[in-house]
Amino acid sequence: MLAIRLGPADLSADVLALPVTRVGDAAAPLDTGLTLPEPLRDEITAFLADAEHTGRPGVTHSLARPGRTPRRLLLVGVGDEPGAAQWRAAGAAAARAARREPKLAAALPADPEAVRAFAEGAWLGSYRFRVGADDPATAPALRTVVLPRAAGADAALAEARALVDATVLARDLTNTSSLDKSPSWFIKTVARAARDTAHLDLTVIGDGELADLGFGGLLAVGGGSPRPPRLLRLDYAPPGAKIHVVLVGKGITYDTGGISIKPLDGMKLMRKDMGGAAAVSGATLAAAKLKLGVRVTALAPLAENAVSGSAMRPGDVIRHYGGLTSEIQNTDAEGRLVLADALAYAVAELDPDLIIDVATLTGGSWVALGRRTAALFTPNDDLAAALTTAGNDVGEAMWRLPLADDYVSGLASDIADVTNMPSGPQAVAAALYLREFVGEAADRWAHLDISGPSWIETTDGHLVKGATGWGVRVLTRWLGTL
Ligand code: BES
Ligand code: MN
Ligand code: ZN
Repeated sequence: MLAIRLGPADLSADVLALPVTRVGDAAAPLDTGLTLPEPLRDEITAFLADAEHTGRPGVTHSLARPGRTPRRLLLVGVGDEPGAAQWRAAGAAAARAARREPKLAAALPADPEAVRAFAEGAWLGSYRFRVGADDPATAPALRTVVLPRAAGADAALAEARALVDATVLARDLTNTSSLDKSPSWFIKTVARAARDTAHLDLTVIGDGELADLGFGGLLAVGGGSPRPPRLLRLDYAPPGAKIHVVLVGKGITYDTGGISIKPLDGMKLMRKDMGGAAAVSGATLAAAKLKLGVRVTALAPLAENAVSGSAMRPGDVIRHYGGLTSEIQNTDAEGRLVLADALAYAVAELDPDLIIDVATLTGGSWVALGRRTAALFTPNDDLAAALTTAGNDVGEAMWRLPLADDYVSGLASDIADVTNMPSGPQAVAAALYLREFVGEAADRWAHLDISGPSWIETTDGHLVKGATGWGVRVLTRWLGTL
């Protein structure tokens, strides 16, 4: 990963990024405290006009100055009101524009928030996932980014790094091929990242114990695979914590659909069906690294939804943790079956103050809201507002959809407590299904359907084509406000 350090980020640099702001329809250098000598200022002004630089966040033009210092100026737009989102976009754009240079300095204002967001953008925007050797034709040369030594910048950089590391972990987990990504591989990878972290403990609940505890949903979904299901439990328990949050993440390491098999187009990306488990694992790790004052337990029910003679069948009835039963009408509605067990377990065993589940649950939420916005469901207005605000702060947007009681009758089954394929709009119906398993705790619960934003087709700003790690940063931000 890119090394970002603090140091002189001024006109002595070989390659220097200069923020430019938007004035009307044109661009002008932002006043950062760095004095630009008159001739250089004139040169930049002429170049900005010539290049028709708009000053919009992330828009970057490169001014080559062979034989002079700086040898290259990157004029990076930050818009007319630079805040976290704009600095994040600028960091990603600058690192991308400098990818052929070994080292980049950025003349940011003496503001730790600018340093934090710029670093976050530079790190996340230069993320790469490769299996095997890197391709020298596309591998970036950029190794080092130097940011100004402003007051508070050290701490801001360290905090950004903790969030980035957890996001990178979530992206790596999600991008990894399902040939490697069994439930136990997922746990091993999280355990490696979590080791030697104060007040952080990892517990694995294997299939024998899952059977004893009555995790019928998780066992049924994982029953078709030779790679057995597991429940990952990650506990961050700082001394003196007053609030206990449980985060539950869907961890389907591959979703074939099961016997209700998916067509090829719907299946080929289903290695990402554990993005929720990756998000809650990453957020809990980040909470521990940042030493937040809240107790967090992440639960990740992990299973491969495979097709075989031991797979669950349409028509089966399964008994969940706590005793509620589901009639399987579609084996492809598997995520809710594993979440049902984990949610019921969390409420009964952990009695959390707040409980959030995160899941790539329905194609419907993606159809409704697209790749940039998660669907949020909760009966709790304060919780909805707090999560939405945290999301806006970090650039992980969510939009609230209703837990519409009109569709509750669609959950009915002739033979079981509920059907796993209720009628009604898919994202809403799935959320209503989950609510049944939270029971009395529904008012302390929120559900995030991340089928859309867990993945992106084209690199844009801090997002790189592939897994986004959506959820790590918003959950960590929100946990920090409790
Ligand atoms: N993992 C899928 C949902 C999904 C689809 C996530 C596309 C990301 C992109 C989930 O297990 C699923 O198959 N859901 C079905 C439910 C239906 C069978 C009730 C769906 O949404 O079509
Ligand atoms: Mn499915
Ligand atoms: Zn799924």
